[in-house]
Amino acid sequence: VTVFDTRLPAPLDALPTPALLLDQARMSRNIADMAARAGAAGVRLRPHFKTSKCLPVARAQLAAGAVGFTCATAAEVAALQDAGAGDLLWAHAPVGPAKVSFAVSAAARGSLTIAVDSMAVAAPLSEAASAAGVTIPYLIEVDTGHGRAGVPPESVTALASELARLPGLELRGVFTHEGQLARHVGDRPALEAAGRHVGETMVAVAAAVTSAGHPCQVVSVGSTPGATSAPEVPGVTEARAGTYVFYDANQVALGSAASEQCALTVLTRVVRVRADGTVITDAGVKAMSSDISAAGNGFGVVAPDIDFTLANEEHGFLTGPGTTKLRVGDLLRVVPNHACGTVNMWSGMYVVDGDTATQRWTTTARH
Ligand SMILES: Cc1ncc(COP(=O)(O)O)c(C=O)c1O
Repeated sequence: VTVFDTRLPAPLDALPTPALLLDQARMSRNIADMAARAGAAGVRLRPHFKTSKCLPVARAQLAAGAVGFTCATAAEVAALQDAGAGDLLWAHAPVGPAKVSFAVSAAARGSLTIAVDSMAVAAPLSEAASAAGVTIPYLIEVDTGHGRAGVPPESVTALASELARLPGLELRGVFTHEGQLARHVGDRPALEAAGRHVGETMVAVAAAVTSAGHPCQVVSVGSTPGATSAPEVPGVTEARAGTYVFYDANQVALGSAASEQCALTVLTRVVRVRADGTVITDAGVKAMSSDISAAGNGFGVVAPDIDFTLANEEHGFLTGPGTTKLRVGDLLRVVPNHACGTVNMWSGMYVVDGDTATQRWTTTARH
């Protein structure tokens, strides 16, 4: 529903709060910088769509040379296919009848590769694809230390040999999400070394799969903290950073970006100044998401001398020396801990140029 009919362009002061803001100039620089980085490393860039869930953002990434997108959900796949947005990797194994049949029909539309990490995942897909007369390309997911999905590097070749017996599926290569790099807060050299190790592991896995006689053209790594290390290893063919398009406070804590690169903020107003000095705003968990802070300072970053340590659904609680100057009605911009979680809370974002909102872009494919 449209509640506020704010005419754009408008100054930030005219916007209803809370509001999600996107600094377009920062986003454009982030897109250009990552495209250049992937180009210099000689890898294809397949950004993760879960960060923006926003088609104008995806179009800007494609215009800068992205080969297509990584998706987490069926809704993201469908939204991008409907928009004609190119070659997609659905990097989340489709399990259960609804997702299996979606995978088959989406693959039949073309340019979809899926993720597989076991025979249990693959068997129903093989059966459904064969019945439909479709061949679905897939990558084997490798667990390089994140401990989530994927098989350990030493098990990939054996799994590839088992999977090769299944009709309706066609191996294209291997991928990993090196989310474990986020453990290296405050130690960028250790993070970079761990990222290079991920790249080397994946290249060795691909060599083993190839020498066992299986196709393995794609060697895909993917994360924003790892974008400066894992894709640089010779033999890696693809990088799948997602968060880089906006960055966030957690990426700043990891040394992936400077705070001046953070393109996404939540605009909020002070709605109460409590007698004890605590300041209450209109941005709570439903504006920020409850994603935790890598730096341990709450629900988002307001200012160096303000802590955002507590949030209810629709109220934020600010403490610290910087709150003494705040009055009811004051506007604040909060950098989210995790851009992707915050975007998923919103039906749209205001595109801002300096202190002016110029347009509103809708988000899509949310749960
Ligand atoms: C499979 C996969 N690829 C790529 C990414 C992108 O990583 P980041 O959010 O660090 O950019 C993610 C993030 O969760 C992911 O799960």
